[in-house]
Amino acid sequence: MGSGGAGIVLLFLCFISSLTSIVASLYNSTDDVVILDHTNFTATVHGTENAWVVEFYSSWCGHCIQFAPTWKLFGRDVRDWEHTIKVGVLDCSVDENVPICREHEIMGYPTVKLFAARTTKGDIGSAMPHLTTVEELGEAVTDFLVEKQKTNSGSKSWADLQPYKGAVETLLESGSGAEWAVLVIDKAKSHTAWALLMDLAGYPSIVARYKEADQEDVRRFGTAGLPAVMIVSKDGKEETLNDVGKSRDEMRTAILKKLMLNREMLGKKTSSKEDREGAGDGQPEEINKDKLNYGDDLPDTAFTSMERNDQVFMVDIENAVSYAINHEVAQHKVIKAMYAEDAESSIKVADDTILWLWRGHNKVNKRLKGDASEDPRHPKQQFPSPAACPSCWHGENFSEREVLTYLKTIYAKGALSFRGTQTIPVPPRNRQEKVQQQLHGHRQQSQVLISHQDNKLSRDQSPQNTGSWSFTNTDISLCVLLYGASTIIIMAVYCSVVIRRKMRRRKFLEAYKLP
Ligand SMILES: *[C@@H]1O[C@H](CO)[C@@H](O)[C@H](O)[C@H]1NC(C)=O
Ligand SMILES: *[C@@H]1O[C@H](CO)[C@@H](O)[C@H](O)[C@H]1NC(C)=O
Ligand SMILES: *[C@@H]1O[C@H](CO)[C@@H](O)[C@H](O)[C@H]1NC(C)=O
Repeated sequence: MGSGGAGIVLLFLCFISSLTSIVASLYNSTDDVVILDHTNFTATVHGTENAWVVEFYSSWCGHCIQFAPTWKLFGRDVRDWEHTIKVGVLDCSVDENVPICREHEIMGYPTVKLFAARTTKGDIGSAMPHLTTVEELGEAVTDFLVEKQKTNSGSKSWADLQPYKGAVETLLESGSGAEWAVLVIDKAKSHTAWALLMDLAGYPSIVARYKEADQEDVRRFGTAGLPAVMIVSKDGKEETLNDVGKSRDEMRTAILKKLMLNREMLGKKTSSKEDREGAGDGQPEEINKDKLNYGDDLPDTAFTSMERNDQVFMVDIENAVSYAINHEVAQHKVIKAMYAEDAESSIKVADDTILWLWRGHNKVNKRLKGDASEDPRHPKQQFPSPAACPSCWHGENFSEREVLTYLKTIYAKGALSFRGTQTIPVPPRNRQEKVQQQLHGHRQQSQVLISHQDNKLSRDQSPQNTGSWSFTNTDISLCVLLYGASTIIIMAVYCSVVIRRKMRRRKFLEAYKLP
């Protein structure tokens, strides 16, 4: 590895650091989702009567940022289903949560996993296909629950989603204490009916069941007016709800109004979410880019204008290495890189590796341009920009030779900025130096203080949250370990090839030896 090798590593790190530049937790306590972490995931999800649907996400991933409003809206939409299923989130970009994400074999973000009732240790849940609307999510979750219940893997606490085949009158005789039986009549496999049953199952005064329209006793409803709602009171009076809409929301509102019920009567544990009823309009919140914290560790004013451009910071490189080792490497069982695509064919000499990484970087920038994860202060443009390196551009195309020269210039050892990294103090040689060092130390401290205040919001979650950063012992040992392991593997391969070749030659010679 010559300077080309060092170049690859630096460019790779730069690429990773562009991924880590966004850090902000995507959910908070005002959302209708249960926030899980390493301290309480197992205690909360395992062994419950209700099922769970958990989103494993990473707060810097663009798809996750895009998906978060949908997931919040979904959580709100099904918040009355707690008896049957609860909605949770776990942030895999938090160091301490990484082991849980690895155990659950999370290979990409976001991953949504379903857990049935009474989950035990070792159950990694079943992954749901990637869905993009609240409606699709609701239907997929419902299908899972119906299937579990059908195979007796449900729980008594769940809403009964199976079609009711018995006589209507017997529903209230079972001693449940309910005053009304609500029958939702619809064609087979009706997601509207299932959702409505789960909406209503929390009210102690209601027994809600689903009746398929082809059953003898409800055939009179025909097919045109479906879904229909019939309410039977304790004294046997039957009533059909007329002139209400056919959507789940319209029917639920009509039923609750008719029976004079409201959400405060839900027979579940009172939760603080109850207090917020009516606070929102049920619309997803727009991602507010101003509120996302893009987590630069020093305030903008700490940089001179020259440094802001294409200055490469040692701090970024160190952060990127740490992040790559702790998250990217730690979390995946197998690491596939864009390497397979074209590396073998496009790399002939050392300098090609630099250009190959540079091309990869720009490919990703192109893909993420305009994405919700984009930092408005640092738009994802092709690098280097015409302003930073005019000679790198020929019309609308890059001149790769110029780009190579440019990259070698800005990543040269002498060009790196060590601002924000820790300096190893040299003992003062005399009194004057000692005074100077003390003064300098004060200045550095106050600068770090400024950056702390500027970023206190993101401090807790940010993977880049150590103002002036240095490798921990674990990082260094990991590096050494990886280095050692790869050396040994290369040596082993080399030896085995040489030995095998020698053996073959000896056999060949022996076979042709004259007697
Ligand atoms: C939760 O996040 C929303 C934006 O998503 C914000 O408006 C609200 O103030 C936050 N609440 C808390 C308690 O952090
Ligand atoms: C799990 O712990 C986190 C951090 O302490 C907390 O914010 C969250 O509410 C907890 N969740 C549960 C379900 O207890
Ligand atoms: C840019 O590249 C395209 C395709 O490689 C080529 O057709 C075009 O002529 C190039 N433009 C300039 C100004 O070199």
